[in-house]
Amino acid sequence: MTVDTPATSRAARVLSRPITLNGLTVPNRIVMAPMTRMFSPGGVPGEDVRSYYARRAAAGVGLIVTEGTYVGHESAGQSDRVPRFHGEEQLAGWAKVAADVHEAGGTIVPQLWHIGMVRKDGDAPFPDAPAMGPSGLVTAGAEPTGKAMTQQDLDDVIAAFAQAAADAERIGFDGVEIHGAHGYLLDQFLWEGTNRRSDAYGGDPVARARFSAEVVAAVRERVSASFPVIFRYSQWKQQDYTARLAETPQELEAILAPLAAAGVDVFHASTRRYWLPEFEGSDLNLAGWTKKLTGKQAITVGSVGLDGDFTGAFAGEGSPVQGIDDLLDRLEAEEFDMVAVGRALLQDPEWAAKVLGGRVEELAPYDAASMKTLS
Ligand SMILES: Cc1cc2nc3c(=O)[nH]c(=O)nc-3n(C[C@H](O)[C@H](O)[C@H](O)COP(=O)(O)O)c2cc1C
Repeated sequence: MTVDTPATSRAARVLSRPITLNGLTVPNRIVMAPMTRMFSPGGVPGEDVRSYYARRAAAGVGLIVTEGTYVGHESAGQSDRVPRFHGEEQLAGWAKVAADVHEAGGTIVPQLWHIGMVRKDGDAPFPDAPAMGPSGLVTAGAEPTGKAMTQQDLDDVIAAFAQAAADAERIGFDGVEIHGAHGYLLDQFLWEGTNRRSDAYGGDPVARARFSAEVVAAVRERVSASFPVIFRYSQWKQQDYTARLAETPQELEAILAPLAAAGVDVFHASTRRYWLPEFEGSDLNLAGWTKKLTGKQAITVGSVGLDGDFTGAFAGEGSPVQGIDDLLDRLEAEEFDMVAVGRALLQDPEWAAKVLGGRVEELAPYDAASMKTLS
């Protein structure tokens, strides 16, 4: 039986409002967070990947951000099962994903990804390609284990992101998300722990943001003016969950302002628990600060609907369901504009329909076994 309690009808009211991101109108505020699934052999997303995304769109997710997908640069990745965003067969597969999501009533952007120094020499899909990053460092304090990128490398990677964005628009996607988070290539430039360069791409926060800003500007140049460009970033790194790009709002502003000026429409501020304040003296979370400092729209993420953070999921940990009243308060107060949901949507393709329809008693706890299938 459907129970329409005051709290759940409020969820429908607050989350169901459409929103316009540059030229794209998204039917509601629910975003599927990008999640690597490794179900695309040869880098080609197939039938099962299509129905995985379409199922979630049909059940009320307003905007899908796909799993990270490699741009067309041979050093970009480390697996032949992660989908690629280059190559005829790969892009044909992606075009069908976008079409199916549209048919189901949703909108979709690919998350464009280069992993930088997280790659190891010899990794698939291009074993001869070198691992490279700003300074050849995989984490702070490490010895270099890869190549410090030359100007030619930087130009090639910028061109690869721009080409991927142009292809995304050409094959029917609604925008792009640039992956600048979690200790991968762009974040390796943003973070001083992995960026020891003494040229124009290293040094103070503005210089460290330069490479990302050039990627954004090149993307912007190759897509229509109305095509939304989302930039995902994080304080935390997979190499160090306690690492921070910015200790103060001023430092954060120094990093984000050049990205906003280069053409970012929406920032996706990746945190593990959305309810934690980012800086002392304010309750604003990272997305809240991002919106306040840049004036751009912001997406929040991190343990929405669950009470344990996602890092345990990789060790097989589950998580109980948690209410979202506080999230709705913040969304209603316009601290941020949209809410991305990760594991809860892995667990249950119907998560959005249940939350919007007041059927929260049907939500199941997160079980890490859901990472093993594409259901
Ligand atoms: C299986 C899995 C794969 C992920 N892959 C990506 C990815 O490709 N790109 C990315 O930016 N974040 C990735 N993340 C992080 C999620 O997008 C999200 O930020 C995180 O899971 C927190 O949200 P949640 O607490 O709702 O799960 C991944 C998370 C999980 C659990």
